[in-house]
Amino acid sequence: MALPSTGEMTGTEKSVSAERDDLSVEMYGIWKRFPGVIANQDVNLDLRVGEVHSLLGENGAGKSTLMHILSGIYRPDAGTIKIAGKTVDFRSPAQAIEAGIGMVHQHFKLVETMTVAENIHLGWNETPRNISGDILARRTEKLSQEFGLYVDPNTKIWQLSTGEQQRVEILRVLARGAKVLILDEPTSVLTPAEAEELFKGVRTLAAGGRTVVLISHKLEEVMAVSDRITVLRNGKVVARRMKQECDQNTLATLLIGQEMVSRLQRNERPFGKPVLEISNLSALNDRGLPALLELNMVLREGEILGIAGVSGNGQVELGEVITCLRPVQKGVIRIEGKDLTGKTPAHSVEAGVGHIPEDRVNVGLAAALSVADNAILREYKSKEIARGIVINSREAFLFAKKLVEQANVRVPNTRVLVRHLSGGNQQRLLANREIRIATHVLIAVHPTQGLDIGATEVLRNLLIKYRNEGGAVLLISEDLDEILVMSDRIAVMYNGRITGEFNADQADRSQIGLLMGGGKTSASLSASFVKEQP
Ligand SMILES: Nc1ncnc2c1ncn2[C@@H]1O[C@H](COP(=O)(O)OP(=O)(O)O)[C@@H](O)[C@H]1O
Ligand SMILES: [Mg+2]
Repeated sequence: MALPSTGEMTGTEKSVSAERDDLSVEMYGIWKRFPGVIANQDVNLDLRVGEVHSLLGENGAGKSTLMHILSGIYRPDAGTIKIAGKTVDFRSPAQAIEAGIGMVHQHFKLVETMTVAENIHLGWNETPRNISGDILARRTEKLSQEFGLYVDPNTKIWQLSTGEQQRVEILRVLARGAKVLILDEPTSVLTPAEAEELFKGVRTLAAGGRTVVLISHKLEEVMAVSDRITVLRNGKVVARRMKQECDQNTLATLLIGQEMVSRLQRNERPFGKPVLEISNLSALNDRGLPALLELNMVLREGEILGIAGVSGNGQVELGEVITCLRPVQKGVIRIEGKDLTGKTPAHSVEAGVGHIPEDRVNVGLAAALSVADNAILREYKSKEIARGIVINSREAFLFAKKLVEQANVRVPNTRVLVRHLSGGNQQRLLANREIRIATHVLIAVHPTQGLDIGATEVLRNLLIKYRNEGGAVLLISEDLDEILVMSDRIAVMYNGRITGEFNADQADRSQIGLLMGGGKTSASLSASFVKEQP
């Protein structure tokens, strides 16, 4: 199809010529409430032209919300936004992009079955009508060169790696003339090599006069790429610094705060013999990337080992590998000296491993089944209840009734479906069922996530009681307070490895925070102690 050659490149040329617009951003007194939580409280933020500005904060600190406000997705409850000195009030992301603000989200919004070029031009008001694939490809090629972000225009999205898909998302936003580019936790989906590549691109864009906002909770990358850093905690700005004024230690303290937590009642008893021993364990995540890298760990009787870390550093995979839900690539898992590597979940139950998984409703329990069915779900081996596939329904009923009473699950009868229970009731049912199985080890992954204070208290006490009676608990939690309150020993997990270890009475919040963000401390050295154990 013949289009005049002058017309076909307008989109690209315009974004080149508009390059030098100076788009400073000021946000004043921004408030945003959601039901039950204040996501942003009186936040001030300024972005200077040509800087890489990191928004640093723990999960839930309010980083994404603040940037959703700037990019027109949410309107603030109160506050003012000025762009290049002029007050704006965006009603939609389209208005924000019109003003030069573009955001790349944590979850991509590309159409998998279309090509790179088609995705870049999709829904863009400067896409010429009735245009051939060739022209779209050429326009894409040109954008790609302009911004130094290489992608093959004719490849379908589903054929690309995550790093390449992200590049397409960034190009989409830049093509529409974004002068302020917001990247929400961009490295959480990338390999280290891809992340490095991205940061090079980010520095180039900033050098070319664009402003880049990097949302992150990783200290190392924030220190590597930023010019300035704003730290958010519980919806408020707690610090605003030039990169040169910061080191990872001070940032870690700012990130997690200094509130002290009280420790739960526990009896003082010496730890027993090792029950769970893991050596050189490697495994892949669902995307086929390394999730665990030659990890070593020992857990003893009567001990709670807390695994601290930001989600996505291999913790969930660790729980799955120990309970034989995920294959081992390399290494050995032993329970009481017996090799559990490469076995099935039934073997792990037999070996005395209980599991409170992260997803209690879909993985731990069967939401569509009754309380009674869920209570007996793991009784493969019980002679009273099951002979082969034949269930003795009377015994099953009595068993379920007893477990429900013991767990203090408040239901009118055991025929009620699990999905109708409150989170607290579900978790008590699951935890009591698993503790019964866990003659040696209990793996508890984010066990109190989403529970109210009362239900949390009950569950924590249940774990402590199990430990006091000689059980061994591997407690995986993103909640550092929970780790500090519950654990006898604390290990920090980062990038599939244990990067530091502390006895709970010597645990130092800011050191743990530093390790969680990928920093290094003297405690990293003591991690080698774990390695040398047989
Ligand atoms: N659409 C929403 N509805 C209700 N609560 C929300 C919504 N978006 C965010 N929140 C809550 O607001 C708080 C801040 O969230 P967010 O800005 O996503 O934090 P961050 O990006 O720093 O992890 C959290 O407590 C979160 O649960
Ligand atoms: Mg976020």
